[in-house]
Amino acid sequence: MISVLFVCLGNICRSPSGEAVFRALVEQQGLSDHFRIDSAGIIGWHAGEGADARMKRHAARRGYDLTSISRQVTAEDLRDFDYIIAMDDQNLRDLKRLDTTGEYGDKFYKMTDFCRSCTETVVPDPYYGGAEGFEKVLDLLEDACAGLLDHIRNRHDLPLST
Ligand code: 4NP
Repeated sequence: MISVLFVCLGNICRSPSGEAVFRALVEQQGLSDHFRIDSAGIIGWHAGEGADARMKRHAARRGYDLTSISRQVTAEDLRDFDYIIAMDDQNLRDLKRLDTTGEYGDKFYKMTDFCRSCTETVVPDPYYGGAEGFEKVLDLLEDACAGLLDHIRNRHDLPLST
């Protein structure tokens, strides 16, 4: 089982979307049994809440159902997940701070590291902006999640999709 955790600030916009986009891709390729996919936030302000209604609406238009409930990332997550994917540089710094022993650094990635078409270096926080910000998040995540799955395929022995 390969475990992937998507992390953003609030766990109500970007990381629940990353989780849903990646899950859809993994399902499409018949790999669901090989993955544990989850998301979490640096802050716990929205813990227990579903995803942001605007993010849900934009995602639904592309066929993604955001069902995750917000939770704060924990030190145990750093131990338990194989790939921990931050949406921006501040998320990455905050994760590194949570890794007090420094032993999990090689699990940390930035989502845009896996982009193949887009040239952005972060997935920008859409929370305080307009509709185009939510669309941008989804554009970046679709590009990056495809790259992430290829990256994982190159490192793990996974069946090819039929
Ligand atoms: P996210 O967006 O990190 O993509 O979930 C945000 C959601 C909530 C807040 C900030 C960013 N907030 O400050 O409450």
